[in-house]
Amino acid sequence: MKNKFEQLKKEASGILEKIETAEELRDFEVKIFGRKGKYNDLVKELPKLPDKEKKEIGRLANEVKKEIEKMLFDKKQELEGEKLKNIAKEEWVDKTLPGKKPELGHLHLTTQAISEITEIFERIGFQLRRYPEVEWDWYAFEALNMPKDHPARDEWETFFIDAPESKKGKMVLTPHTSSGQVREMERGILPIRMMNISKCYRRQSDVTHVPMFHQFEGLLIDKDVSIAHLKGALDYFAREFFGPLRKTRLRPFHFRFTEPSFEVDISCGVCNGAGKINEEKCRVCKEGWLELGGAGMVHPNVLKAGGIDHKKYNGFAFGWGVERTFMMKEGMKIDDIRILYKNDLRFIRQF
Ligand code: FA5
Repeated sequence: MKNKFEQLKKEASGILEKIETAEELRDFEVKIFGRKGKYNDLVKELPKLPDKEKKEIGRLANEVKKEIEKMLFDKKQELEGEKLKNIAKEEWVDKTLPGKKPELGHLHLTTQAISEITEIFERIGFQLRRYPEVEWDWYAFEALNMPKDHPARDEWETFFIDAPESKKGKMVLTPHTSSGQVREMERGILPIRMMNISKCYRRQSDVTHVPMFHQFEGLLIDKDVSIAHLKGALDYFAREFFGPLRKTRLRPFHFRFTEPSFEVDISCGVCNGAGKINEEKCRVCKEGWLELGGAGMVHPNVLKAGGIDHKKYNGFAFGWGVERTFMMKEGMKIDDIRILYKNDLRFIRQF
């Protein structure tokens, strides 16, 4: 019996030396110490021994068990160490390789233009305001001296909202930022130097029109304001935004909410003001000038609608298209406004 236990220890030591994987080690452990394992087979024979041998062999059995368990433990440690060594080899990372940069986007061109326009006007004291894009007819038309059914309203090709009417009329998608004029006056804080930049909506789409676009509207109300102040503010903006090479001109026009009224044009940046490229008419302006927006001295009826004493106060207003203004920037050469909203990354990434 003594020999059998010694033999088991020797055999275990020999096999353990050759074991190379954790699975082999687990199988081997079962073979020795499992319920039907070799060690248990031997232990089952102990009761059959004469009493005087039982004690001695029993002690030996315990010793052999501990020794084999120690060998198993050492082998386990050895295999773990091997595994870690291999991990270091297999999962090696070269920290000096350049990293992968996540792709960075940028603000949309219209947003960039809005920031630039805002900054330019802030420098001469115009404060940025936002007014509703879904607005009452009153603010969009009636308070702006365009009574119900007045034909001038047709020019705005308005989207109406299918919603209940109030005493301020129907709801519309703002067709222009001028609808912020009377809202600003209603705040009752004078003098006013407002810059209202917002989305506008009209049922239009061609090379110079999109159904959703942006306007920036300047409104200045104070005492003794003249056309010279208006012209000065517009010239200042044109110089700052377009640079000294481009020219602006005021053309007499008619708006119901300003008197006198003008349209402001800028020399076209696509054909450099010539009106044609290689003997063909310029696709964008056709005549060398492109209209950026309207302007004029605020009509007394509008001041009245806004609760301002038109005998004490007067002022000017102007409203230009952000996208059109951006298209006319030096070197831009965008010949179709709709490309701004086509989400064509090949175009957008250039800016
Ligand atoms: C107006 O909207 C007036 N409210 C401007 C104004 C304000 C006049 C204050 C006097 C005092 P108009 O309809 O011309 O005017 O539009 C002004 C500018 O908005 C246009 O010159 C153009 O630059 C831009 N715009 C108008 N419709 C569109 C459109 N569908 N797509 C892109 N830009 C447009």
